[in-house]
Amino acid sequence: MSNDSPLKAILVVFIVALVCSIMVSVAAVSLRPYQLAHQIFNRAEHIVKLADLMPANTDTLSKKDLMDIFLQLDARVIDIDTGRFEKNLNPLTFDQRKAAASLGHYVTIPAEYDVAHLGRRSQFATIYLVWDGEQIKRIIFPIHGQGMWSTIYGYIALQADLNTIAAVTFYEQGETPGLGTQIQLPGWQSKWQGRQLWDGTGELRFRIATERVVPESMAARYEVDGLSGATVTASGVTNLMHYWFGEHGFQPFLRYLSETPPIRANN
Ligand SMILES: Cc1cc2nc3c(=O)[nH]c(=O)nc-3n(C[C@H](O)[C@H](O)[C@H](O)COP(=O)(O)O)c2cc1C
Repeated sequence: MSNDSPLKAILVVFIVALVCSIMVSVAAVSLRPYQLAHQIFNRAEHIVKLADLMPANTDTLSKKDLMDIFLQLDARVIDIDTGRFEKNLNPLTFDQRKAAASLGHYVTIPAEYDVAHLGRRSQFATIYLVWDGEQIKRIIFPIHGQGMWSTIYGYIALQADLNTIAAVTFYEQGETPGLGTQIQLPGWQSKWQGRQLWDGTGELRFRIATERVVPESMAARYEVDGLSGATVTASGVTNLMHYWFGEHGFQPFLRYLSETPPIRANN
């Protein structure tokens, strides 16, 4: 076949495309277990930090040590709709994101509740109870919702009063670097500590303010400083908090928990 032949040009393009696609596929398949392992370690690290169980000196903390701490946590699956513990699902293997995408395991969110713009969610969620002796110290909840460009995923730890925020983390998002990604800054996340969700009348008051919160103001107890140039992402965060701590989110579980305090699993 002559070098000037159009057929030869097409054949070469086809072979190059085929070789490249095989290389990309092989790389994607062979790296998948590493990616999954990284995701598991990453989430475990965030949860252990929220549980306030991270050792002071993390320089020598191996992945195995981290997983050992993580596996000691009292993880439980809850039925978000009924607010009860779901004993038939294993918290270590249950995957809330997969469930939200599989028929029979997800719940369509009615439009009037869907402030986080999720469309649907899993019926179940894994939560983590952090114990101090026989008393609950913190409860860690998974949260997610729509930001400006992406779904934002995080965890929030509440204190035993089920109202005061102990800590928050956002471990995955696709917002603009330097703008929406400010939600991942530890300095900003630390401002959530001590803020409350509900006021004395039961109104969900927590929100990200549009500007700096005045410490002496009445709202300071419920509000976190706004993020300059990232008001859209910040209001996405407010919305996801209102969804997850609203009636269609964790409210039934929180009600159940305050009426029926759980007993430590290994008792
Ligand atoms: C290319 C581009 C990317 C942006 N990315 C984000 C973002 O990730 N999150 C966000 O809240 N605002 C983002 N913005 C800015 C919003 O459009 C909007 O101006 C901003 O959220 C308003 O915040 P401010 O009231 O603090 O200025 C982006 C704007 C542009 C032009």
